[in-house]
Amino acid sequence: MSDRVNFGSRLGAIFAAAGSAVGLGNVWRFPYEAGNHGGAAFILVYLGCVFIFGLPIMIAEFTIGRRSKACTGGAYEVLAPGTRWRWVGYLGVLTGFLILGYYSVVSGWTLEYIWQALSGGFSGKTSADYVTMFQDFSQDPFRPLLWLLAILLITHFVVVKGVKDGIEKSSKIMMPLLFVLILLLAVCSLTLPDAEKGLEFLLNPDFSKVTSDVFLGAMGQAFFSLSLGMGCLSTYASYFGKHTNLGQTAMSVGLIDTFVAVLSGLIIFPAAFSVGIQPDAGPSLIFITLPNVFQQAFGEVPVLSYVCSVAFYVLLALAAITSTISLQEVSTAFLHERFHFTRSRAAVLVTAGSLVVGIISSLALGVWSPFTIGGMNLFDALDFVTAKIMLPLGGMFAAVFVGWVLDKHVVKGEVTNYGLLKSPYYPVYVFILRFIAPIGIALIFVNELGWLG
Ligand code: TRP
Repeated sequence: MSDRVNFGSRLGAIFAAAGSAVGLGNVWRFPYEAGNHGGAAFILVYLGCVFIFGLPIMIAEFTIGRRSKACTGGAYEVLAPGTRWRWVGYLGVLTGFLILGYYSVVSGWTLEYIWQALSGGFSGKTSADYVTMFQDFSQDPFRPLLWLLAILLITHFVVVKGVKDGIEKSSKIMMPLLFVLILLLAVCSLTLPDAEKGLEFLLNPDFSKVTSDVFLGAMGQAFFSLSLGMGCLSTYASYFGKHTNLGQTAMSVGLIDTFVAVLSGLIIFPAAFSVGIQPDAGPSLIFITLPNVFQQAFGEVPVLSYVCSVAFYVLLALAAITSTISLQEVSTAFLHERFHFTRSRAAVLVTAGSLVVGIISSLALGVWSPFTIGGMNLFDALDFVTAKIMLPLGGMFAAVFVGWVLDKHVVKGEVTNYGLLKSPYYPVYVFILRFIAPIGIALIFVNELGWLG
């Protein structure tokens, strides 16, 4: 592509990929999935999934992107022309598009919470009030839709502006800020009364809770949190320069992402136990517990509680937006490269489509909640199908493709930057891609979904 830009620096590439990875998945989804699956034991399985499947698959996706210099929807066509592999690329685009729809709804909630924090809406409330406040808001047929639209428009604006200045620059400023804030909040949360119950839940594994459901949940979460399984990072990797060290970049992104997730757990669980909220509240968890933490932790110094809650939701929104941008970029780049729409026209189509998916998922929590699929409302069903089925499937295909199909010289060449870097772990990497990842993912599927009857 003549207009294909590169990230400005190697560090920029890490920040952009980390910006995609770090988002609501870490702060919103990880704590509630861990809460639903018994805490510490889930976290151990999760860490296993990140390091055994996640990192090698991330390097595989980087390889596909950088080598093909095409977005994910076109990458397989470039690398294996005329084969059915191109459908894996299309599956990725579809997955990302669906995720963007419901992810934007939750991103929109963060804007409402910024607004509430700014207008002092959290002060003087009891724990029960925060529950009602969230329910009233999320089930409202209009208000969340306005925020959804706002998120989609902001994302749209950045994507149309282009990759380099928008994504790369904003990530470089936001990520460090997010770190500082999240560390501060963890300290606050840990000093709350009864915080040790939360710590215990987070750190003391109860292995009787490890069922096949835990494996599927942890694997889905690992893919979701690392932005894997749909070619999001492979699309970003198509903007990597030739000196970017793929292994090191994947390691950095994996560590940053895990660090933020675990720290979020250190904020949420002590806080939830301290105010007597069960950690299995599901998607509403952080929206109910966090306002409480701010009130209780800094109750005596209202200014501090005000500043912290505003700052927290602003950062959460920013972290969400770097992720929506990466999701939006996948479909936009696909329409642009495949059908030769201009970038802005492509982005308009994606934004409009996401709005429709978003509206459906948002209403699914309120007026449309009676409609269920397999006992789940449409929002949860969308999350289940994308995160727990489509992403692991996409990741498995990426592993098989790089492990078995792609030319060995290319596979090794991409990891070593064609001989410039050493890669002592190369045999392990290939072994995981060939055997461990496909078999492991297949086993988890078979076990949980009972595909073999
Ligand atoms: N990883 C992001 C988060 O944790 C969300 C995200 C961005 C994503 N791109 C993705 C999830 C691609 C799955 C696939 O918030």
